[in-house]
Amino acid sequence: MPALRPFVFNQSRLTALRAREEATFRQRTTRSQALREESRRYMPQGVPMAWMVSLNRFSPPFIRSASGAVFTDVDDNQYLDFNVADLSMTMGYGPMPVVDAVSRQVRLGAQFLLPTEDALVVGRLLAEQIGIPYWQFTLSASGANVEVMRIARHITGREKIVIFDGHYHGHIDDTMVRQGEQGVVHEQLGLARGSAANTLIVPFNDLEALERVLASEAVALVLTEPALTNCTLVQPAPGYLEGVRRLTQQYGSLLCLDEAHTFQFAHGGLTGAWGLQTDFVVLGKGLGSGIAFALYGMSETIARHLEQFTDSDIGPAGLATGGTLYASALAVSTARASLEQVLTITNYQRIERLGARLASGLRQTFARHDLPWCAFELGPRSGYCLTPRLPRNGAEANLSMDPAFIDCRRLFMANRGVWDGILSAGPQVSFAHSEADIDRYLEIASAFIAELFE
Ligand SMILES: Cc1ncc(COP(=O)(O)O)c(C=O)c1O
Repeated sequence: MPALRPFVFNQSRLTALRAREEATFRQRTTRSQALREESRRYMPQGVPMAWMVSLNRFSPPFIRSASGAVFTDVDDNQYLDFNVADLSMTMGYGPMPVVDAVSRQVRLGAQFLLPTEDALVVGRLLAEQIGIPYWQFTLSASGANVEVMRIARHITGREKIVIFDGHYHGHIDDTMVRQGEQGVVHEQLGLARGSAANTLIVPFNDLEALERVLASEAVALVLTEPALTNCTLVQPAPGYLEGVRRLTQQYGSLLCLDEAHTFQFAHGGLTGAWGLQTDFVVLGKGLGSGIAFALYGMSETIARHLEQFTDSDIGPAGLATGGTLYASALAVSTARASLEQVLTITNYQRIERLGARLASGLRQTFARHDLPWCAFELGPRSGYCLTPRLPRNGAEANLSMDPAFIDCRRLFMANRGVWDGILSAGPQVSFAHSEADIDRYLEIASAFIAELFE
């Protein structure tokens, strides 16, 4: 297969277009900027969480409200949302089943630190849809991954974990790493020294590389998304995930499929839809529809282990799992309503068709301008791949995207009422989108490409 090379843009054209669009954006968002300036007196960067700045290379709008697929900022600009809060709002804003469940549960009691019947229903529905029998609930997918790592280390008595180039599994010391020249190093600052020492990074879609590592190191857990979604999109080659499963079993390591994103791609997640075998699966993000909620599923053997080593206030110390607000009645009622009434097979089929419409429209736009690009497509996730073929691993995915192009496109689209996906993602179709919304996205995207290349 020929090596991929990054697409070379006319930089001066891109820079000039970006400058024009940023000036327009600033004019359209004066109240947001005033609020941000005032907020700087109380919050670093003038935002309650630094990502709200770092995920956007331009000053973020302050938001007033939202409904369906559209949110409105404090300057009254409306945005058709294709970022859906990085897949934490894939059901759209205010779906009635969720609104009803939240209102009801807040009246009945949001949190008891005790189970409710809804938890039983959520566990049963997930077991049926995904085929993983046992479940534990957390507040975030990061929290779920942390517990999975602890349990895997305890069961196997091993320390190492394997992740894949192009990964993201949350803000966890062990996984916020990249391959450096001298070994694995942290990607960011402030992480505990030494906490990268047990992490190994392997290229995705390369079973030989994985086998080399599993054969030579004491690996507790192989942690991967079934398709990498945090470097735009890398799909598994046919048979690859089955090969990963076979190798983990052969070398006594446990496997976790992190479906924090991909659960929104297919009914039952990719684990259920593709019939994948695994020890753990992690879900989160959109399932809570804005209420913090995530879970991990596990095999029967692991569930029995967790029962045997459940921590006790008065007895012997057990596995380090749990948190005060984990599995709150409110979050669990939201998840139940979502699973029963929004995340239905019919609705998944509908957004898959919309994803195909988006991908096909992008391909037509690229062809009109003779661009040697293609579009990736997996259910409702579609997007721009700036190389002639799709990437097979994280390194190729990096070559197939261009941060300056994405940044400029996002500004251009925001000025025309579309909030595009962040750098690492793609435009994401939500359960609230319609065909007309996809066509609107394509119309603006096509205008952007035309400005850049005509
Ligand atoms: C695959 C995957 N796992 C875990 C996480 C962490 O999710 P959270 O930030 O909700 O903890 C993310 C976030 O983007 C993710 O994409």
